[in-house]
Amino acid sequence: MVPGIAIGDTSEVSIPVDPLSRVIGQDHAVGLARTAARQRRHLLLIGPPGIGKSMIAMALSFDLPQPQSEVHVVHNPENPERPFIEVLSVADVHARRSRLEAVEGVVLEPREVPLQVVEKLGYFCRRCETYSAPTELICPGCGAPKGGRTATAENPFQDLMGFVELTIGQISGRQSEVRTTRTLPDGTEEVVVYERAGDMVRMLDEEALGRRREIQGAKPRKVLVPLDRRTFVMATGSSETELLGDVRHDPYGGHPGIGTPPYERVVTGTVHDAHEGVLFIDEVPHLGHLQRSILTAMQEKAFPISGRNPQSAGASVRVDAVPCDFILVAACNVQDLPAILAPLRSRILGSGYEVVLDIAMPDSDGNRFKVLQFIAQEIQQDGRIPHADAGAVEEMISEARKRALAIDGRSASLTLRLRDLGGLIRASGDIAVNEGADLISREHVIEALKVSLPAEAQIRERYGSLGEGVSSDMTESQKFAHPYHYWNESAEPPGYE
Ligand SMILES: Nc1ncnc2c1ncn2[C@@H]1O[C@H](COP(=O)(O)OP(=O)(O)O)[C@@H](O)[C@H]1O
Ligand SMILES: [Mg+2]
Repeated sequence: MVPGIAIGDTSEVSIPVDPLSRVIGQDHAVGLARTAARQRRHLLLIGPPGIGKSMIAMALSFDLPQPQSEVHVVHNPENPERPFIEVLSVADVHARRSRLEAVEGVVLEPREVPLQVVEKLGYFCRRCETYSAPTELICPGCGAPKGGRTATAENPFQDLMGFVELTIGQISGRQSEVRTTRTLPDGTEEVVVYERAGDMVRMLDEEALGRRREIQGAKPRKVLVPLDRRTFVMATGSSETELLGDVRHDPYGGHPGIGTPPYERVVTGTVHDAHEGVLFIDEVPHLGHLQRSILTAMQEKAFPISGRNPQSAGASVRVDAVPCDFILVAACNVQDLPAILAPLRSRILGSGYEVVLDIAMPDSDGNRFKVLQFIAQEIQQDGRIPHADAGAVEEMISEARKRALAIDGRSASLTLRLRDLGGLIRASGDIAVNEGADLISREHVIEALKVSLPAEAQIRERYGSLGEGVSSDMTESQKFAHPYHYWNESAEPPGYE
């Protein structure tokens, strides 16, 4: 039995429903994240990989209220290349929807709709060819995210996302309507639009679309930022167009009749998708000069969208003042801190907080219990491995203690480099599964510790030293180049066995 922990196995641990309460050992950062959500403050989270920065950003977004406005881009008859922005309240949105839904079109089963359409609408997973409701972010067939830029493979709240999807609906990056053409029996082509209608798909032919246009009158428009959207948007590694939006090219240059009008070609950037929510930017310094645009967006709470490719017909189109009132949660490593644009940092400090996360916590009964909670969470999230018995938990906690000392020189502590510890849990679970065991036991953990060594440690074991390993695998010419150029010696903790 683990000191301070009276438990048979991890299935007895109750996992908090509040996402921020699932974050282990970062109480200071979690407290500030709660404040940031309540007071709409920005956050800069600083620390090494795998200690919960992304997790805190995502968890914070669950604390935010649902968005209260929808952003439309509206055709400007006087000057089509300067479309207008219109911001609708919740009441406006509902009134408009019921007017549009009065035009019914044909309601179809997803299976009756072309595959590429149902995939874009979120009813179909191409990986395993399973159909499911678009409100389900994770494919029930293969467990992989169905797509969209907010879905991440490493999402510690997958179980909660389903719930959120049901209440707030749409996923950024997935389309709510698909416009395509079909050939009629007489050989002519017509434009059809497919859109989501709960579990079904609504198809509007040209006649139905005509009736909708009448309802919209002289102000054709497109929903840019829908009311039903996620409050978490990730902009990591984004390009300029992904971050700030774009106006797509039209080979017909938007000519009336044959081209696509400019307002329909306007696409948002992640800054706009994050309106009223969290914009999460991992490794901020990698944004380079785009940090300046982020700063402008934060100051103005609006950012224009224009065509970014000077070669394209979109270049002459510009939409001013597209709202982007987001909470910025940025993350970086300690050594990257100086590479962050100084005015951006001062903006964050001016209306938010910079927080250095912890890398270890004191080895107390309370904190051991937190590691237990962490193990239970990881097992539940993984979904493919059995629960861990008390012996396995004890072994993992002792490993957490060893790592705090070996990696970070913290004695009598438990490591908070939890992504790596999660790897150990999964490796132990895989061994238990291979053996057909009902629970992960201490032996499985000990076995996993042997097989889940980082590559550097494996090489050292095999070759005696890293240097030996490198040179024995090299051709003569490679030996003249700098053999250690990309060798990551520090990836293995010093003196760690
Ligand atoms: N403090 C923590 N509490 C609970 N789980 C954690 C924590 N830190 C990391 N994890 C686990 O590791 C995974 C990766 O953590 P992440 O938030 O992406 O780290 P970072 O962004 O700091 O690199 C998480 O999804 C979670 O499963
Ligand atoms: Mg991360």
